[in-house]
Amino acid sequence: MQDPKLRIAVFISGGGTNLQALIDARSEGYFQADLALVVSSNDEAYGITRAQEAGIPTLVEGQGSLMEALAENKVNFIVLAGYLKIIQEDLLKAYQGRIINIHPSLLPAYGGMGMYGIRVHEAVFKNKEDYSGATVHLVNQEVDGGQVLVQIKTRLGQAKSPEDIQAQVLKAEHLALKLAIKLIEEEDIEIRPFVSKR
Ligand code: GRF
Repeated sequence: MQDPKLRIAVFISGGGTNLQALIDARSEGYFQADLALVVSSNDEAYGITRAQEAGIPTLVEGQGSLMEALAENKVNFIVLAGYLKIIQEDLLKAYQGRIINIHPSLLPAYGGMGMYGIRVHEAVFKNKEDYSGATVHLVNQEVDGGQVLVQIKTRLGQAKSPEDIQAQVLKAEHLALKLAIKLIEEEDIEIRPFVSKR
């Protein structure tokens, strides 16, 4: 039996440009998956505003039950998009094999504990890398450790600073994330079937 339609919860911590890329992709029909909920670890994240403007329910962690909000919104898939916390054990178990993350480097390079945000691009810049890029991977208990699903490589020819690299890689992230969702819903990428508890 065909898996039920993807109903995605997007987890954010900041500006939410990756979330916005998914909102735009959904509205232009790039993928059919529903953006069912936005969860933020930070009550001041601009991504919350982006979700509200798109009419997507939001939850700030600590201001209500996460598991209840996921169940109420019939969430069957989780996307970490600029989410800076480690996923709790119960959530990892409940959605095992159905959580993906977007990381701003070509994993396994420049990944792991402490490698997030501008720090990644500072290290890439310091090492004078010719390339960087974005990686969408399954999330497991190891930071940035899960199976790689999509990678987009970008040549750093003109980059003159870590900020230049960040801007270039962010474009790759936005494309990689929406492509991963499209490939998953079209079952070109196989993931664990959703087992509803109800
Ligand atoms: C960006 O540094 C991106 O590389 C990473 O999370 C940070 C914020 O992304 N994935 P966003 O603009 O909040 O989506």
